Amino acid sequence: MLYFCRGASAPCCEDGVYQAPKGTQDVLPDDIGAWRYVEAATHRLAGEFGFGEIRTPTFEETALFLKGVGETTDIAEKEMYSFVDKGGAHLTLRPEATATLIRAYLQHGMHNRPQPVKLYTLINAFRHDQPQAGRLREFHQWNCEGIGESDPLVDAELVTLLWRLLESVGLRDLSVQLNSIGDAACRPQFIQALTAYFEQHQADLCADDRRRLRTNPLRLLDCKVPTCQPIIAAAPRSVDYLCAACDEHFAKLRGYLDDLDLPITLNPRLVRGVDYYTRTVFEVWPPTVGGQSTLGGGGRYDGLAELLGGKPTPGVGFAMGIERVILNLKAQQVAIPPLDAPTAFAVHKGEAGKRMAWRLADRLRQAHVSAVVAAGDRSLKAQMRQANTVGARWALICGPDEAESGTVQVKHLASGEEQRLSLDAAVQRLSAQPADTDSQP
Ligand code: HAM
Repeated sequence: MLYFCRGASAPCCEDGVYQAPKGTQDVLPDDIGAWRYVEAATHRLAGEFGFGEIRTPTFEETALFLKGVGETTDIAEKEMYSFVDKGGAHLTLRPEATATLIRAYLQHGMHNRPQPVKLYTLINAFRHDQPQAGRLREFHQWNCEGIGESDPLVDAELVTLLWRLLESVGLRDLSVQLNSIGDAACRPQFIQALTAYFEQHQADLCADDRRRLRTNPLRLLDCKVPTCQPIIAAAPRSVDYLCAACDEHFAKLRGYLDDLDLPITLNPRLVRGVDYYTRTVFEVWPPTVGGQSTLGGGGRYDGLAELLGGKPTPGVGFAMGIERVILNLKAQQVAIPPLDAPTAFAVHKGEAGKRMAWRLADRLRQAHVSAVVAAGDRSLKAQMRQANTVGARWALICGPDEAESGTVQVKHLASGEEQRLSLDAAVQRLSAQPADTDSQP
């Protein structure tokens, strides 16, 4: 039986060869160095800021995300991968992590721990969007959340953590966009003013905005349609409607960020794509700004835990897109440290030589020296070429003579110097070499 992707113009396999589904990508060994580099930085920085790692399921009950991100957001309306499983449960592949982390906080009684509970997670997330550079259907995020504390110092800590990460991987010329969109006490007045303003300009708005005006007026500020931009530019600003408590919170946050000289841009138009935000919202933008270029963003969500059935619990966090960080590292030509190439590459001639190479590689690995044995029975010359191509530092030449004498020819590939050593001496020599230097025999 043949299965075709519904809505696809062609089957997933071309000329009989299957392709990765639209909007997903394979990360090939040549690119893994960049991923490991960024991921290592996320673990390091999260640790330095006192965040603990959490791992959660790839799918949740659909209702969690509908309530969490808001039913009238693009994510809930158009982008969720939702399905009914064989037991009849309504499930959704996670489009983000925040609702999940709040669910986990509530489920595991984390309010009993010292607050805020600071959590981070590296996830794959799924949104059925139109794929383009930096916008995928399966993508990866680094999420950090500080849950259980309303102190603006926690907001400042989250903004700083995102900034320091991007700085530490070597990205330059970024800006932090910051805004406050108020809370349940003052937002309704702002929304009222916003609705009244956009109603006056309804005839000039795009069709999507006319619909959003009825469902979610705040989202109009995020519209990218060029003809809507002059209208948005003159719209009421949330910061002018903040109540005293929100105003003070925002002022303190700005003060803490000023203390650290972060390059903050106050952006009174900044709103975010999900509904749970209160007060602080922020994003980090690369020098070339576009719909799919935001490197990371987040904000405060003091009403989310209650919305998900818990006690009122403040929280603030962000997510950073790993693919977008890697795209920007490439665009800015940041040098990524190479992954370790194998230390030794064992080449061989004849079956006895091959068996010797096989045993020697095993001894080296047991001594924690990375070793590759050439597979197949190509010529010694072809195997040596392969040793150079994979970047090995030493070739171990095992032929019939070596097998006979129980010795091995050890060649340092960069200098070309060679030495015949007993197997014990070869293992000792290579395990004595620091992995990151190019020391000679
Ligand atoms: P978000 O703005 O939807 O926020 O996503 C955060 C980041 O994930 C974006 O800035 C971008 O780098 C990356 N991203 C989002 N969608 C895609 C996509 N389709 N392809 C590639 N990368 C993408 C959230 O997810 C919130 N949960 C953040 C948060 C945490 N707020 C509070 N805590």
